[in-house]
Amino acid sequence: MKPSLKKRISDVLYQLGPARYYQPAYAQIAAAIGLSTGTFLDVGCGPGWLSLYVAAGKLDIDAVGIDTSTAMVEAARRNKGSRLNITIREMDAADIKFPHSTFDVAAAVQSAHHWADTPKILAEVFRVLKPGGRFYLYEAARERQLVPEGWISRKMGLPSDAMVRSGWRRFGMNDSEWADLEVTVRRLDFSRIVCDEHGFYRRMVLTK
Ligand SMILES: C[S@@+](CC[C@H](N)C(=O)[O-])C[C@H]1O[C@@H](n2cnc3c(N)ncnc32)[C@H](O)[C@@H]1O
Repeated sequence: MKPSLKKRISDVLYQLGPARYYQPAYAQIAAAIGLSTGTFLDVGCGPGWLSLYVAAGKLDIDAVGIDTSTAMVEAARRNKGSRLNITIREMDAADIKFPHSTFDVAAAVQSAHHWADTPKILAEVFRVLKPGGRFYLYEAARERQLVPEGWISRKMGLPSDAMVRSGWRRFGMNDSEWADLEVTVRRLDFSRIVCDEHGFYRRMVLTK
């Protein structure tokens, strides 16, 4: 289905704005994931930066970014360049075209608030994780007042904290949306669920 004009404009604006100033955040998330070898799935990869921070220059990692947006997939392919250990696929996370137990680690950053069928996507990620595999779910906290130092790349003071927080009104979750997500997660068979905070994000680390 062809995306609406509004969605295409929003995808371009995301690449020009948040995806640029979130660069330190992607680096911090990749460091927290701490993968040195294995398979990585970036769910709703957008312009692909997290896959790059996780896998660029690390030939023992095979990373796959999936996204339903053609514009984001094209951007992620441009950003990954000629790196052979990163693959970007146009794919719905509600129907992941990989066999059971394929990935050591999966992550979804700022994607879950877009999902049309969250239970289906969570079940799909669970299916493609290996036993013991981890799923990192990150969403900016909409009510958060502070943007910690070192999480946003600024030039001449921009974007200001107020601009970043205003983006979270579109790209984050509020308390009750996060609580709903946690309820849905707890219906699955993850052996370990840790909910905490990391930088300006709420985070769940789910172990299969
Ligand atoms: C706000 S962007 C975040 C992109 C990237 N994770 C980042 O942090 O820069 C959310 C992305 O999730 C993607 N998305 C939403 N629903 C999806 C689904 N069912 N399957 C795959 N991707 C999806 C959107 O197309 C969009 O590119």
